[in-house]
Amino acid sequence: MQKQKRENFSSKLGIILATAGSALGLGNIYRFPCEAGANGGGAFLIVYLIIALVIGTSLMTTEFIIGRRAKANPIGAFRKLRSGPFWPFVGILGVLCAFLILAFYTTVAGWTLGYLGKSVAGHFSGQDLPQIQQQFTSFTNHPWLPLVCQLVFLALTALVVARGVKNGIERYSKILMPLLLVIMVILCVKSLTLSGAHDGLKFFFNPDFSKLNASVLINALGQSFFSLSIGMGCLITYGSYISKEDNLLSSATSVTLADTLVAILAGIIIFPAAFTFGIQPEAGASLAFTTLPMVFQQMTGGYFFCLIFFLLLVIATLTSTISLLEVIVAALTEELHLSRPAAAIYSSIATALIGIPATLSFRNGSILNLGGHSLFDLLDHITASYFMPIGGLLIVLFAGWWMKKPDTMDELTNGGTLSLPIRRAVYFIIRYIAPVAIIVIFVSQMLK
Ligand code: TRP
Repeated sequence: MQKQKRENFSSKLGIILATAGSALGLGNIYRFPCEAGANGGGAFLIVYLIIALVIGTSLMTTEFIIGRRAKANPIGAFRKLRSGPFWPFVGILGVLCAFLILAFYTTVAGWTLGYLGKSVAGHFSGQDLPQIQQQFTSFTNHPWLPLVCQLVFLALTALVVARGVKNGIERYSKILMPLLLVIMVILCVKSLTLSGAHDGLKFFFNPDFSKLNASVLINALGQSFFSLSIGMGCLITYGSYISKEDNLLSSATSVTLADTLVAILAGIIIFPAAFTFGIQPEAGASLAFTTLPMVFQQMTGGYFFCLIFFLLLVIATLTSTISLLEVIVAALTEELHLSRPAAAIYSSIATALIGIPATLSFRNGSILNLGGHSLFDLLDHITASYFMPIGGLLIVLFAGWWMKKPDTMDELTNGGTLSLPIRRAVYFIIRYIAPVAIIVIFVSQMLK
């Protein structure tokens, strides 16, 4: 059989940026503040930081190790590295997870596109809080607009993925991710001058440990996996495009730090604003989409900043949806030998079939919204609280116990050329600490 030629990222910066492109997105700017707000602020932040920096970095490195060793999509990677029917099944679960995430992710991705349109049209200027809140409700309840936005977003994603890794993914991430960081720092400075800055920062940074419980732990775990794009094979796929010379641990560390920084910046922007304008930190879905337009209102040149911000948010979101679709497309092209464009089209259609009901479930009185639990929330919950923790656990167990140790160490140290002590410690985390931590958090949530 003819072997398909696999593409590689072209440079070390290329991988970091492509992976950062995958990691940075709605998870940081939309989901992180939602979760921090709902789980007690500071207490959540501390747990989140520990999990992201220790377990997150190790799991990201692990996915790179598996991907680069096998040079294949998640299903093929497990099959190549270990015989037997069980492990490829873990890859299949990952691909399924990518579908489910992409389905509800494109709902909010569509909103970002809608909000970009609103900022171009200047819909926020001169509006007060109730009006801005009303705009969010009208937009999400509009009969067709959110659906059109979602489908356009999905089509854009498919277009980039159909063109392939290097041309598509790498190029966009290179310029735009650093730009996003700059604009977020500007927004932060503004937010810190608002009257509620003190209360907002106190909520976000002062841990109230009485709020700590099993749900906070699992939510922090789920959020860190979601934000870092780990626990379902996305970065096994990206790892398969990394060249032999690159340093996996340092790339994973840079991406984790950048991702965490952006999440914290989002918190520093959103909580002071929420406290200033009297928006509940537990406001959920509407939190980012009401606080941010309110902050822009307070700024000179607000129209301009709002426009650039939503443009960058659309792009950051796009680089994330690309990475999710890429998991499915890499699996379909390599396992079922479909062409890239065909795989991109079929998988987008399948995603739309779940994604459209997810968007509709946001409407007031929707039949897809039972007892306050919408289909959207359900998809979000089962992926972050079950699929990713279980997937992440199986991935670290695989690399720590089922892969041959010399193979794992060979990838970690690039054939013995990189410093050993740190990498031994990482191997220890992969083998013992990460699995035990995930099991403890997962089980404590089940027993609750
Ligand atoms: N990490 C992205 C974000 O924070 C979302 C994302 C992209 C993702 N690829 C993923 C989440 C893979 C889980 C798994 O917005």
